[in-house]
Amino acid sequence: MCGIIGYIGRRQAGPILLEGLKRLEYRGYDSAGVCVLSSNGNLSIVRVLGKIAKLEERLKAGLPNGTAGLGHSRWATHGRPSEENAHPHTDCSGELVLVHNGIIENYLELKEELIRRGHVFRSETDTEVLAHLFEEELRRLQTSDFSAKGGSVSGGKLQTSDFRLQTSDKAVLAAVNRVTKKLRGAYAIVIAAKRWGRQIVGIRKDCPLVIGCADGESFLASDVPALLPFTKKVIFMNDNEAAVLREGRAPRLYTTTGKPVHRAPQDVPWDPLMAEKGGFKHFMHKEIHEGPRSFEDTLRARTYEENLTSLLAEIGLTPQSAADISRIQFLACGTAHHAGMVGEYLFEKWAGLAAKADIASEFRYSARNLQPGTLVIAVSQSGETADTLAAVRMAKSCKGVLTAGIVNQIGSTLTRETGGTLYTRCGPEIGVASTKAYLAQLAAIYLLALAFGKARGSISSREFRSLTEELLELPHKLRVVLAGLERPVTELAREFQDSKGFLYLGRHVLYPIALEGALKLKEISYIHAEGYAAGEMKHGPIALIDREMPVFVFNPKGCGLYEKMRSNIEEARARGGRILAVITKGDAKMSRMAYRVMEIPSASHEFFEPVLCVAAAQLFAYHMANLKGLDVDQPRNLAKSVTVE
Ligand code: AGP
Repeated sequence: MCGIIGYIGRRQAGPILLEGLKRLEYRGYDSAGVCVLSSNGNLSIVRVLGKIAKLEERLKAGLPNGTAGLGHSRWATHGRPSEENAHPHTDCSGELVLVHNGIIENYLELKEELIRRGHVFRSETDTEVLAHLFEEELRRLQTSDFSAKGGSVSGGKLQTSDFRLQTSDKAVLAAVNRVTKKLRGAYAIVIAAKRWGRQIVGIRKDCPLVIGCADGESFLASDVPALLPFTKKVIFMNDNEAAVLREGRAPRLYTTTGKPVHRAPQDVPWDPLMAEKGGFKHFMHKEIHEGPRSFEDTLRARTYEENLTSLLAEIGLTPQSAADISRIQFLACGTAHHAGMVGEYLFEKWAGLAAKADIASEFRYSARNLQPGTLVIAVSQSGETADTLAAVRMAKSCKGVLTAGIVNQIGSTLTRETGGTLYTRCGPEIGVASTKAYLAQLAAIYLLALAFGKARGSISSREFRSLTEELLELPHKLRVVLAGLERPVTELAREFQDSKGFLYLGRHVLYPIALEGALKLKEISYIHAEGYAAGEMKHGPIALIDREMPVFVFNPKGCGLYEKMRSNIEEARARGGRILAVITKGDAKMSRMAYRVMEIPSASHEFFEPVLCVAAAQLFAYHMANLKGLDVDQPRNLAKSVTVE
């Protein structure tokens, strides 16, 4: 997730763009850039590899003059972090410039068509495609003819002899409409063109874009924090809308088909820090609610059967080399290890492959002789965890072993240690406790398990399509879970505030979720919690259970061992344990058995239940810690990335 900003007004744009980007740095920062439009329409672009501070350093040499401009801080998805891949991007003529947040899913096919039509590309990004598409539209406006009186935006032609027409909102919307109709994916774009004169245009679909309104000047930004130093009057754009900002004129909002939209500015009551937290009290709470988006973005453009080859290519494999893999070895720590544990079940079931998830700090000192044909998949949000790096380096010493990474941090060490990286796309995760990154790791593992299953022929095209369709429904169901559980879980946390310990129980693919739920509670509320395989309780831990040992269980109806789990719950209840149960909405039997319930929708397939169940556990841990008044985002003794043994 990148940060974008645009400005037009009567003040010098440079300092405003810089200040706005600094407020958006939490959205991503592997490279950055600005473009200032001078009064004669010239575009001055400065881009750097590195954080905003580096851009600020570069601009000290002299900020370009101009009272309009746009800026960008990048969290790379397509194209490694580099100056060439940094935004803003321009077209061939250099007379059009834009910045983009999101993913253009069909950029490869668009790029091939544009290259065939003579366009020269200078970056590896999906974004640059947008610049060339708009270039074609502006060229079209020069040659075609558009009856401004009767011409409709969609499909009309513009008589471009009159500069006024060229820069008219209708002309702009005609270009916007034609370009956006070609796009598949998510985008928030800010664009300026010499031919459009002194105006900047914002376009939004599936990525946030906010208009800032002030006296004689207006702004566009990915998020409110960038606007607060300048205005608290904002207009939140909706999907498929375009905004045309001109100096000395209130912003004008349209649908991308050209229909005017009337939406009054609203006052944002936040201070800057609250704004970075999106109005949440803690980053962790905000990031739990960003989980659905992280899951969705990680899946984006990777679930189509025709994209299987490019998905496997991200981890350095072909369908053939994937089919030759004989075993999967996950290596990770903490929460990332719990993602790998879910992966064991998925690869065994869907890909017919033996799969094992090992804790990296144990694996690195073991005598594990990985056999040729093993694919090691290292899972790490930071890509800098010392134990995981060491374990991967050890695994690489085994003959015939291939390696891949599932990583969030672009360009991190782990991405240089493996044969290829499947990036999770959740942007920077600020809270030390991993929440949205875990959801994104699960999404990546689902993708790979299905891709391997298809490559090995262990799942058919029909099964692949059906499973990926159900996978794509999960972000919506996650949003339902989070919206529905906030209040009941807060009440539950209030009731169990003083508990001295918890047991978390799950079976099969929900056993890793029991471990993850217990870890979340421990690491931010400092209450001891133990995750356990429910079937193991009778082999000892059941001795712990009494009324003072609440038992947090995961038993949605889709769980493959639903009845077995109910028996385990009965055993715990019979010993006085108060059962806090995550169940499928409307499950009357479980409601009668449990002391308290957290209801979630059906995940439609047992292997997808972990995604919805873990959200309940994340929320519970958060509210327990928040009610205790603890430092949720920076828990004691912990670091976001454990770069030492
Ligand atoms: C999880 O909430 C913790 N922050 C911790 O267990 C973390 O998952 C672990 O340290 C691994 O970090 P990584 O994903 O950056 O490798």
